[in-house]
Amino acid sequence: KISFYNGEFKDDEELRVMYQDRAFYFGDGVYEVIRYYDGEFFTLEGHLDRLMNSMSEIEIEGMERTELLDIVTELKERNTIENGALYIQVSRGIQNRNHAYPVDVKPVVLACINEARRPHSQSENGVHVITSEDYRWLKCHVKSLNLLANVMEKERAVKAGAHETVMHRDGVVTEGSSTNVFIVRNGILKTHPADNLILNGITRQEVLRIAGELDVPVEEAGFSVEELMDAEEVIITSTTQEVTPVVKVDDTIIGNGQRGMVTKRIQEVFDANIH
Ligand code: PDD
Repeated sequence: KISFYNGEFKDDEELRVMYQDRAFYFGDGVYEVIRYYDGEFFTLEGHLDRLMNSMSEIEIEGMERTELLDIVTELKERNTIENGALYIQVSRGIQNRNHAYPVDVKPVVLACINEARRPHSQSENGVHVITSEDYRWLKCHVKSLNLLANVMEKERAVKAGAHETVMHRDGVVTEGSSTNVFIVRNGILKTHPADNLILNGITRQEVLRIAGELDVPVEEAGFSVEELMDAEEVIITSTTQEVTPVVKVDDTIIGNGQRGMVTKRIQEVFDANIH
């Protein structure tokens, strides 16, 4: 398997990373996970736009979009994986440990690919989630390497035998540990607005677009944990989870405990767009 680090493509057996990379010391960087199906990138432009935006938000300079596009394109070509999830991170650079930004260094890119399968079973049968307080920082729109709260909250779900943790801030549902959250209530598809409290998921944007096409009424507005529990349908979305129905929140069964009709209709268009 071939990966990319600091300007070079290398076999994983030979790849060495620099311990002074600020990604290690400070989590000082940003990332993307990009899916490709049968050798074709899915929503690549959206991911590159967001990566550029994340860099700009944390003041990483000196990395061009074309350079990133070349890296992801070549990495996919150099590997023989037909269906994969490409991970790419950009760190602020390599320098001895010092909180202040380094001067005269270039951002450092790490990119790798892992085989990925479509989540068919969960897309059909749904998943269980638990809820928890969102105690993350106030720049959640940045896809930062700092994922401590996210991994700790995901682990709480795993320990509880659930699939994901849905977080809420001051009683308002924000997002999952690595997914966006939607509800259908009184026939209206609702999700948290794309502000600084959530990551504006590329899959989230796809779902909103598809809902528009299907004439499903949409509201980008905060909703409470009570509304979540009381929803007709609940959906979580991400690049790897795609459009996944939620059939249980904590101890509460959602709807009749099965994937809802709005979810299914959105999934059908989502699927059609992949092929
Ligand atoms: N996570 N919210 C958070 C906090 C996320 O980490 C992610 C994605 C999403 C969904 O975004 P998108 O639809 O663009 O994948 C929402 C990626 C997949 C990850 O960290 O693995």
